[in-house]
Amino acid sequence: MKQVALPNTDLTVSQLCFGCWGVASDFHWGDRIEEESIQAMLAAVDSGVNFFDTAPVYGDGASENLLGRVMSNNNLREKLVVASKVPPAKMKPEEVVAECEASLQRLQTDYIDLYQTHWGNQEIPLSDSWEAMVKLQEQGKVGHIGVCNAGLLHMDDVTDLQKPITNQLPYNLLWRMIEDMILPRCREDEIGVLVYSPLMHGMLAGKYKSSAEVPDGRARSRHFTTERPLARHGEPGCEEETFEALRQIEEIANGLGREMADVALAWTIQQEGITSVIAGARNEAQLRDNVARIGNPLSADAMNVLDDATEKLMEALGPNPDMWDGGENSRYR
Ligand SMILES: NC(=O)c1ccc[n+]([C@@H]2O[C@H](COP(=O)([O-])OP(=O)(O)OC[C@H]3O[C@@H](n4cnc5c(N)ncnc54)[C@H](OP(=O)(O)O)[C@@H]3O)[C@@H](O)[C@H]2O)c1
Repeated sequence: MKQVALPNTDLTVSQLCFGCWGVASDFHWGDRIEEESIQAMLAAVDSGVNFFDTAPVYGDGASENLLGRVMSNNNLREKLVVASKVPPAKMKPEEVVAECEASLQRLQTDYIDLYQTHWGNQEIPLSDSWEAMVKLQEQGKVGHIGVCNAGLLHMDDVTDLQKPITNQLPYNLLWRMIEDMILPRCREDEIGVLVYSPLMHGMLAGKYKSSAEVPDGRARSRHFTTERPLARHGEPGCEEETFEALRQIEEIANGLGREMADVALAWTIQQEGITSVIAGARNEAQLRDNVARIGNPLSADAMNVLDDATEKLMEALGPNPDMWDGGENSRYR
């Protein structure tokens, strides 16, 4: 597993980061088997993955709890770089401090390597929450601070006080909005980019052949009609373009003698300015697959053909990088 420097820190992280959202059962992922999640996490460590991303909102504390237990039972804390986040609903400065303490307890540790804002909060200026995070860093409770889902305005707001180490952003072949402005700005300012949902919740692993096959929890993104029971974006969606893009990606992958997930992960990690790709894995087999896939590069020609195959979908989705909220409700600033 290739190790890379986390920009502007003394930390080295694996190019594949283990995404801990799906280690616990919830409305998005459905039921999870705890023992399978534990085996996936241990297999990750065994494969050279040292970077783990979690958040309080994942399974309402269950994801942080499980990561804490796995680290404690296997004496792993010092070997891992742990990233967690401030819940979007708890961003007043005093809440940020209390939430950090609660995360430390659940993770059974006295420091978090990378503490991130998860989303902005309409009521509270991001710079207010950021100031509290800078103080937590000064106290040694968190090693470094970063943002997630931050557009140019939010990046400017926090940089006025202290530049974020990283911006965690959605990026995959079916979701390329950050290419226009956010990714170039991160490259320019040497802010590390941590990519989330590189397999688009399994769609890019070839799990679903039509929108009807996609469970409601995963059909909340703007790809799908807002008529889906758990969707809230208020848009018609672009299911036809999405499944046409998937069909073409699969055809390209087959032509290269590779699987779709393989090509999807390689396409993401090869983009300039990407530090790590945060992928979820439900069990050990998926984790081992992803580890094998991450080191298998694509030619420039293949990258271009894949770009072309998703162009029409990108036009249909428009520039909003928020997967779940549409129009004026987009949380990107
Ligand atoms: N900052 C944010 O706002 C934010 C938002 C979303 C995610 N994240 C982070 O990013 C991480 C990853 O994103 P994600 O969990 O949304 O999605 P993802 O990595 O795109 O998808 C994970 C899912 O893909 C399927 N999968 C993974 N490997 C596979 C394989 N080898 N073969 C077949 N299927 C495979 C599994 O689906 P099944 O469960 O169906 O098997 C797995 O649960 C999260 O865990 C979280 O840490 C952050």
